Amino acid sequence: MNLVHQQFGANAGQSIQQTINTTADAAKPSISVIGLGYVGAVSCACLAHLGFSMTGVDVSLEKVRAVKEGRSPIVEERLGELLAEGVRLGRIDATQNLVAAVLGTDVTFLSVGTPTAPDGSCDLTYVRQASRAIGQALAMKEGFHVVVLCCSVPPGTTLDCVAVEVAAASGKKLGLDFGIAFNPEFLREGVAVADFYAPPKTVVGASDKRTEEIVSRIYGAVDKNIQFCSIAGAEMVKYVDNVWHATKVAFGNEIGRLCKSLDIDSHEVMNIFVTDTKLNLSPYYLKPGFAFGGSCLPKEVRAVAHLAEAQDCDLPLIQSLGVTNQRHIAEAARLVEALMDDRGAQRIGFLGVTFKPGTDDLRESPTLELMAMLEAKGASLKVYDPNLRFNDNLLGQIAYVRHACPSQARVMDGMESMCLADADTLCANADVIVVSHATDEFRRAIEARRPGQPVIDLARLYKVLPVDNAGYQGIAW
Ligand SMILES: NC(=O)c1ccc[n+]([C@@H]2O[C@H](COP(=O)([O-])OP(=O)(O)OC[C@H]3O[C@@H](n4cnc5c(N)ncnc54)[C@H](O)[C@@H]3O)[C@@H](O)[C@H]2O)c1
Repeated sequence: MNLVHQQFGANAGQSIQQTINTTADAAKPSISVIGLGYVGAVSCACLAHLGFSMTGVDVSLEKVRAVKEGRSPIVEERLGELLAEGVRLGRIDATQNLVAAVLGTDVTFLSVGTPTAPDGSCDLTYVRQASRAIGQALAMKEGFHVVVLCCSVPPGTTLDCVAVEVAAASGKKLGLDFGIAFNPEFLREGVAVADFYAPPKTVVGASDKRTEEIVSRIYGAVDKNIQFCSIAGAEMVKYVDNVWHATKVAFGNEIGRLCKSLDIDSHEVMNIFVTDTKLNLSPYYLKPGFAFGGSCLPKEVRAVAHLAEAQDCDLPLIQSLGVTNQRHIAEAARLVEALMDDRGAQRIGFLGVTFKPGTDDLRESPTLELMAMLEAKGASLKVYDPNLRFNDNLLGQIAYVRHACPSQARVMDGMESMCLADADTLCANADVIVVSHATDEFRRAIEARRPGQPVIDLARLYKVLPVDNAGYQGIAW
């Protein structure tokens, strides 16, 4: 007796197979969707509307019945209408028989729940169970099959959990007998159907070209600009999106509480805030790099945190900004100190010391704080910055730094004697190079350094990281 019969009885999968055989459009892969919740039911209905032959699978008989009868199992605009259309046109079937559904289709979307486990981690129980069952089906299947994970999961899950379970249960080889992809869902409940047809983006990480091409054929109708990336990258994109959305909500609400305490209409403020798409709602300030600094951000963050305290407003997000910034500087120090400990590096050379390129402003440059930390550990510091001018302006800044950041006073006092004439001289006189500005001049100097000479990049010198760059490491990449 084969596995389908063992598990689900002799007639398993018959009606599904019939539906698929009579309605399948040869150019379109047939698709099974495992999990008919908020994501799976919408995928089922929306892909059927695009002409795909769909088989929905759920452990819940109630959900299976609803989909099979063209009724929505959940409250979601237009979903019932599309499911009814799909069933009427013979493009949608549903079953509790996962193995038969997989056997009767070319591609399987996995959209089961990934709730929070008691320890706070992501509970992969349903993903694992469904993956095993997919593998049991593939053990009996001829031909290439694609598994697409649509659940929100920790990076590594697609390859280390789903692919491993499928391969173990099927005895088949990834890339040869089956392909795997991660395709995060960005649907918003309530407008999920509209979002499906006009997605904010489509992201796919696939195990191989063939899988990438099959998934592209499915999504090509709704998005011509699919963004392909590594599987782990795609998994991370989904988490980053949701953490970002949560950050925005928390930020908006903290601003609201502070505004209310000051008798200011928060919506008047935020309505203006959101009109700034140059700096506020834009890619600006979002790429990982070094800590924030300069004459404005640290000072204003302190002032707002202080204002909140004075108003008896508890704003943990805003009040934690200084802390997280300090941790980032400490991480840079840790990277350099590890080289001091492991390699006996003593001479630390800094390419760039002002708070960003294109300015001579040193005030609250995070590089100064890093230098102060390393000096306290016994490092000998050297600096090259093409914009540093030893004039009255710098004397004024030294006074400012003494007041705002007493820990950096010694470094500021010794700055002139630490400065070297050019980037090459700096590199030649350093055991470790710390680069804090992504300029062509510094890129050239880094490329001309001694082979293997350690570099700590705080500024992301390279858009695409070079593979052959011994000694190089970034602070957050
Ligand atoms: N809800 C959203 O708006 C949304 C948006 C984007 C991503 N996601 C992610 O998509 C995934 C699914 O979310 P959801 O909200 O649709 O979940 P859900 O809980 O609504 O639906 C999951 C379904 O999977 C079924 N299921 C569980 N194990 C099964 C198995 N072995 N075989 C068949 N069916 C099984 C359950 O019965 C349930 O109906 C989650 O990882 C979630 O984080 C959700």
